[in-house]
Amino acid sequence: MPLFRKSAPQEPEVDFTALPRHIAIIMDGNGRWAKRRGLPRTAGHAAGAETFRTIATYCKEIGLDYLTVYAFSTENWKRPAEEVSAIMKLLKKYLLEAIDQMERDRVKMAFFGDLTPLTPELRELCEQTKEISRHYEGCQVNICLNYGGRDEITRAVRFLAEQCAREGRDPASITEQDISDRLYSAGVPDPDLIIRPSGEIRTSNFLLWQSAYSEYYFTDVLWPDFSKEELHKAIASYQKRSRRFGGV
Ligand code: FPP
Repeated sequence: MPLFRKSAPQEPEVDFTALPRHIAIIMDGNGRWAKRRGLPRTAGHAAGAETFRTIATYCKEIGLDYLTVYAFSTENWKRPAEEVSAIMKLLKKYLLEAIDQMERDRVKMAFFGDLTPLTPELRELCEQTKEISRHYEGCQVNICLNYGGRDEITRAVRFLAEQCAREGRDPASITEQDISDRLYSAGVPDPDLIIRPSGEIRTSNFLLWQSAYSEYYFTDVLWPDFSKEELHKAIASYQKRSRRFGGV
């Protein structure tokens, strides 16, 4: 009989009555996950898409109001054509399934990003998913597609500058709220918690404006291995923090 027995790792305590309202996730590490298994990177994205399904379903179950995921950035077009096309195929598959199960799942879907460079078919699927789920209440899932934080802010600034020139509006009257209202996320509260798996500790152009007071959670776990337990750890960590929003 050993004197010291290793205790089972403790499940983190999550207070499900005080969840963050909005969680955003950078789904990173798919490529490394595949490489470690001797698989093509595209297999990592397929596994990542499965993890997204699991986590999105769970977020709805626990009553999260908003989940935002970074699926494809404005910079991701630099990847090999084959990889880009594989990610687009996974998105198409996901959207077709989502449309199929919409009345059952009742998750409101939105897309952050400039969808114009997507194929007309994918754009149409995004439009349909958004339209069908428009009136659903409860959980809202935002998929960032061809999204970049700098691009989003540039577009908002351009719009406001044009408005000033066109309508003679005084630029001094532009408020932070005016900028927020011109972002893809208009009307969605800023993320409380941003999770980045895979060991990378940077924001990578994700929700630059909206993350001003977000709490970050970084983990070495690769996205395809991310689980409900990992989500619990992130939420438990968030719940221990004291958010001061610049105050004391
Ligand atoms: C980052 O990992 C991941 C992406 C650029 C693509 C994410 C896409 C999916 C999870 C699939 C489609 C999405 C949905 C919503 C169905 P990486 O490739 O940069 O990983 P690495 O850093 O290990 O190379």
